[in-house]
Amino acid sequence: MSSNLESAKELLVFLGKSLFSILEAIVFKVIPQPRKNVAGEIVLITGAGSGLGRLLALQFARLGSVLILWDLNQEANEETRQMAQEAGATRVHAYVCDCSRKEEVYRVADQVKKEVGDVSILINNAGIVTGRKFLECPDELMEKSLDVNFKAHLWTYKAFLPAMITNNHGHLVCISSSAGLVGVNGLADYCASKFAAFGFAEAMFVETYAQKQKGIKTTIVCPFFIKTGMFEGCSTKCPTLLPILEPEYAVRKIVDAILQEKLYLYMPKFLYLMMFLKSFLPIKTGMLIGDYLGIFHVMDGFTGQKKKT
Ligand SMILES: NC(=O)c1ccc[n+]([C@@H]2O[C@H](COP(=O)([O-])OP(=O)(O)OC[C@H]3O[C@@H](n4cnc5c(N)ncnc54)[C@H](O)[C@@H]3O)[C@@H](O)[C@H]2O)c1
Repeated sequence: MSSNLESAKELLVFLGKSLFSILEAIVFKVIPQPRKNVAGEIVLITGAGSGLGRLLALQFARLGSVLILWDLNQEANEETRQMAQEAGATRVHAYVCDCSRKEEVYRVADQVKKEVGDVSILINNAGIVTGRKFLECPDELMEKSLDVNFKAHLWTYKAFLPAMITNNHGHLVCISSSAGLVGVNGLADYCASKFAAFGFAEAMFVETYAQKQKGIKTTIVCPFFIKTGMFEGCSTKCPTLLPILEPEYAVRKIVDAILQEKLYLYMPKFLYLMMFLKSFLPIKTGMLIGDYLGIFHVMDGFTGQKKKT
């Protein structure tokens, strides 16, 4: 009898808290939460030498953060460092780091901890794409995709999460992709790496939540194509629903999501609907939608990043 009462009480508490969390989310949709202050935060951005990484560095420079820039391209990274200083950053540290190499990540991470301090915002942004059909893609290239786009995230978490836990303060940002939400032909290795990055970041969010590490936040970003050159030559058949995004717009949304401590950011918004439809529509209908939106042909004109990194 008493155990029945206990179960009923537990159910009521669960229902009450769930209802409250839904109401709270609705209120925060109408009245946006205040953005957090990142002045003085130590922000590490991987792949800071170009594209989103560079623009993210410039945004955080304007917000007064201390910047740590990682890239394997020293010249490009140095250029970002100078631009960040011109944008107002007073403390910018650029390091050459090949994120696909575990030992190098650990070595440079140790150097960062000694020379700058504990990273409080980690942005796993470095990425590559092979853009080849699965059977035409050499094994080494596929392995590289997984090393850069996914495994590097394991090593950076290992290096920087412990201090975040000790300080009960930190933010983990994963730049995944719309290709981390839906499989795309011609992008098998890239999709695998981006699904893995998404799954890892989400699992780690749940792990920190379950361990009541409330000061540790996570943001997972899934954009469709962005005009950075990475997907040069790719096209969209439906620019109204699936536009190719401007890098400045994408970065503004990413920084906003970080400052609002949002867990998920999908861009454009149509991706939220796509995920909802994917969860219940018959697979044949899903494929018809994919065909109608031209998804099967988005990679047809792929030439990729022109400059060598
Ligand atoms: N551009 C898009 O359409 C698009 C869409 C969705 C997701 N993304 C993701 O956004 C992120 C940024 O992409 P971008 O468009 O700015 O590309 P980009 O090619 O302009 O920038 C990637 C940066 O990562 C660096 N990099 C590559 N391999 C590295 C390694 N092993 N170690 C360290 N640095 C390395 C490169 O030197 C470069 O500076 C990537 O993770 C990408 O997968 C991009």
